[in-house]
Amino acid sequence: MSSANPSSPPLTQSPLSESQIADLQHRATEVAHRAYAPYSHFRVGAALLLDDEAHTIVTGCNVENASYRLTVCAEQAAIATAVGLHGPSIRIRAIAVANLNQTASQPCGACRQTIHEFGTPNTIVFFPAEAGTIAHATIAELLPAAFLL
Ligand code: THU
Repeated sequence: MSSANPSSPPLTQSPLSESQIADLQHRATEVAHRAYAPYSHFRVGAALLLDDEAHTIVTGCNVENASYRLTVCAEQAAIATAVGLHGPSIRIRAIAVANLNQTASQPCGACRQTIHEFGTPNTIVFFPAEAGTIAHATIAELLPAAFLL
């Protein structure tokens, strides 16, 4: 759909600036320091950039439990917080995921499904790749066959 005002294209079509990407990665790493991960010792942080005029960023970290399956992943924590703060119509423009273990790590399948629920086909996911690099892919690439009800 085209925008009524050509100077205000749909937010999802605006590319992220280098400083926005760096800021998201910084926020993801920062919140990873607050992770509760006494079992895996794998501390993860996620920073969401919402698709809104304010360029809102919401963060979350993983929270483990002695009953292991109750663990909440960083991405899911961030999304639950974003919905609680900003309501059910949030859309995720981008999400950066970081860990403090200096290892390549992509979002798990459950997190991909959760990101998909609040994303668009263009939602970009940044994640740690080999040799300290940052890789990115759209959620449609990471989860080409999402569950839909
Ligand atoms: N974890 C995340 O926070 N996000 C993911 O996408 C994958 C895994 C957490 C869950 C658990 O606390 C730890 O990493 C090890 O699996």
